[in-house]
Amino acid sequence: MPPLLPITTVIVTLALFIFKYLNNVDIGAICATTMKTSATTYVEINNNLPAEITLKVHCKSKDDDLGICDITQFWGFSFTPNFFGGTLFFCSFTLPGQFEWFDIYNQTRDFFYCNDCIWTISRDGPCLLTNYGDFDSCYSWNPSTQLITKPLM
Ligand SMILES: *[C@@H]1O[C@H](CO)[C@@H](O)[C@H](O)[C@H]1NC(C)=O
Repeated sequence: MPPLLPITTVIVTLALFIFKYLNNVDIGAICATTMKTSATTYVEINNNLPAEITLKVHCKSKDDDLGICDITQFWGFSFTPNFFGGTLFFCSFTLPGQFEWFDIYNQTRDFFYCNDCIWTISRDGPCLLTNYGDFDSCYSWNPSTQLITKPLM
């Protein structure tokens, strides 16, 4: 008969598992793939630049670096936001003659607004698809001054 695991080991392991499950952003997709998984939230970035212009995007969170993606049409990734809040994905956008960045997913801003957060990117900035089927929820690029206070990409 195998020895019984000490009850404290079981409890600690279980607690760690639950904490990890609740606290971790669970990522599906790296640059090479677009993935819509069973994770609760999907973020998609559509290239709305003039034809033939590739959009270079580099998205990160505190824990994950999704890599540098060259988007000709669209690219997306899935994740489950942090149970305790505060999930943030920020991306840099490199266009010809222009470098910008934007918080593509801010849990405080977006959690109750979208599970499928579909963005279109043009020179003027990002616009989010609304329930009415138009990309008419538009945002400004993050001010470049914030680059000092957040990690550079
Ligand atoms: C996320 O959005 C909220 C609401 O717009 C804002 O107050 C907060 O500063 C944003 N978080 C970050 C890390 O930028």
